[in-house]
Amino acid sequence: MKTEKFSLRAQDHLGTSDGKKHFNEKHFAESAPRYDIATRALSFGQDAAWKRKLIASLPAIAAPVCVDVACGTGDVTFLLAERYGDGEFIGVDLTQEMIDLANQRNQLPTVRFECGEMSQLTMPDASVDILTGSYAIRNAPDLREALAEFRRVLKPGGTLAFLDFSKPDSAFFQGIQFQLLRFWGGLWGLLLHGNPEVHGYISKSLRTYPDAKTLEATFVECGFEIRSSKKHFGGMMMQYLLSA
Ligand SMILES: C[S@@+](CC[C@H](N)C(=O)[O-])C[C@H]1O[C@@H](n2cnc3c(N)ncnc32)[C@H](O)[C@@H]1O
Repeated sequence: MKTEKFSLRAQDHLGTSDGKKHFNEKHFAESAPRYDIATRALSFGQDAAWKRKLIASLPAIAAPVCVDVACGTGDVTFLLAERYGDGEFIGVDLTQEMIDLANQRNQLPTVRFECGEMSQLTMPDASVDILTGSYAIRNAPDLREALAEFRRVLKPGGTLAFLDFSKPDSAFFQGIQFQLLRFWGGLWGLLLHGNPEVHGYISKSLRTYPDAKTLEATFVECGFEIRSSKKHFGGMMMQYLLSA
């Protein structure tokens, strides 16, 4: 049972990869019990539709091995299992509280969940057909290390599919996005946890996240080909399909 009150401030921890990992573990342990309510509220009820669109964009493959990184309570992992039926569907998350909730939901023998770090996956080289992550890569302690790890486990030509906030290129629009998310995330952090820092983290995580152009260049530099991209919510949210 959790007794410690969450009191970390994102800006004290996001500057280093170890600090970010530590903050995320504590912060998502705090948010886990109300995480599903929070995502629905924060996305104005759009979250489930965005996740379904991500899954619909994936290629048809028979009995694929799929890994869903930063799986949280397992929404995308279960959608993968629903879409493909046969196969192996593994959700990986840093936070044990999220994995516990995902396991409570799981009734499928083809689905399993592991507590782990997205940059140090347990899968062998070139063993995965599809790797997904919703609101995942923004949380990577080091984005390039995570992308290198995804490339390691993916089969040649395998698919990487992401859904996450997109940071505008212009400093002006970045400022507007930051203020909007600070207000909206902070409000839901306060309502659900009595602490604006819990979901206020979203805006702060974008401070160190690359803008859309830089992110796309990073995907290519890390050896991925961009197959498609799709904007949601006026471009605030972005879906990417890449191949290894
Ligand atoms: C915003 S939630 C997204 C959860 C889920 N994918 C969804 O869309 O509902 C981010 C998740 O990333 C996990 N996480 C953060 N840092 C991580 C890391 N380094 N490795 C694996 N998971 C991580 C958190 O525990 C949290 O469950």
